[in-house]
Amino acid sequence: MNIGIVGATGLVGTEMIKLIENNHLNININNIKLFASMKSKGKKVLIKNNSITIEELNTESFNNLNIAIFCSSSEISLKYTEIANSKGCFVIDNSSVFRMMKNIPLVIPEINGDLVKLSNGIISNPNCCAALICMVLYPLQKIANIKRIIISTYQSASGAGKEAMDELINQIYQYSKNEKLNTEIFGRQYLLNVFSHNSNINLENGYNGEEMKIIEEINKILKSNIKISVTCVRVPVLRSHCASVNIEFDRKVDLNQIKDFLINQDGVDVIDNRKDNIFPEPINTENKHNVQVGRIRYDLSDNENKTINLFLSGDQLLKGAALNAYQILNLCQNINILNRYS
Ligand SMILES: NC(=O)c1ccc[n+]([C@@H]2O[C@H](COP(=O)([O-])OP(=O)(O)OC[C@H]3O[C@@H](n4cnc5c(N)ncnc54)[C@H](OP(=O)(O)O)[C@@H]3O)[C@@H](O)[C@H]2O)c1
Repeated sequence: MNIGIVGATGLVGTEMIKLIENNHLNININNIKLFASMKSKGKKVLIKNNSITIEELNTESFNNLNIAIFCSSSEISLKYTEIANSKGCFVIDNSSVFRMMKNIPLVIPEINGDLVKLSNGIISNPNCCAALICMVLYPLQKIANIKRIIISTYQSASGAGKEAMDELINQIYQYSKNEKLNTEIFGRQYLLNVFSHNSNINLENGYNGEEMKIIEEINKILKSNIKISVTCVRVPVLRSHCASVNIEFDRKVDLNQIKDFLINQDGVDVIDNRKDNIFPEPINTENKHNVQVGRIRYDLSDNENKTINLFLSGDQLLKGAALNAYQILNLCQNINILNRYS
């Protein structure tokens, strides 16, 4: 396969390069091309001792590529996906632009990887929080129907891209030197603060874009119609998102069974040590492939034991983005979709 990574200098693109270099699933990769904006043209990236020069993305970039993994903005995906497809280049897209389109599969390989074969040239990678949360909800759906979910997220700076993460790092440095903090990206002090997610807010219902994506995408991925309410918050963590999730089932559930199903789910680790207060923490999921889940307990406000609480953490740059895309790439190869497509 000849692969192109669009947005190769960004946070997701950089993780994508590392995964392809390490290639733990042994995907058959011939040639890699890296693209970014004009600003990065000519920069070099070393992949397996080969120096690859970053090219400025343009309409000719997809010639001779079998697959392109888009790791840049929705605008770039919208502008270039059709061009890529017209040249026989399949697209895996990390942006949000295609996720809710009816005929475009929104894929988490452990959950609905079979949808890959239905694709007409585009596969969408889910929102980072939606992906991490679905990994935990999916096995639980097999125990009982889920009626309602209430989610609160704790989202890291890297979820908003490289410049946002750099702003938090700069604020740490500036704070330690007693200097004025640079607040260009978020417009406020991030360090030692917690604030509502920076996506656009709907002035009528009060929900922001991130919250709506999580609600819609969870139901698309799980093929469900669960009532979901979400509050998304940024916390001053560099990498890995967390979520507190309250899940109401349609019948009484058994906590041991819940834990067993989670333990047996590929891509999920249960970290639930009540005695020593050891539960999922973002610092422990950074650079890890699996989502960690713990604090599994009944919701005391429901005396019928139909409702549980849990807390999860996962590296949103990996399972919430690059790793999931790399796993999709592997599925594309396994079912030979690229040959079929071109
Ligand atoms: N960060 C996350 O946790 C996460 C999780 C899930 C999904 N996503 C999605 O993944 C995408 C990438 O996110 P990110 O966090 O990696 O962002 P990022 O760190 O800000 O990187 C953006 C990338 O896009 C490139 N780019 C900008 N303008 C371009 C242009 N005109 N032509 C080609 N490339 C251009 C940038 O290149 P230059 O360096 O040259 O400007 C950079 O490589 C976004 O759609 C985001 O919503 C992100």
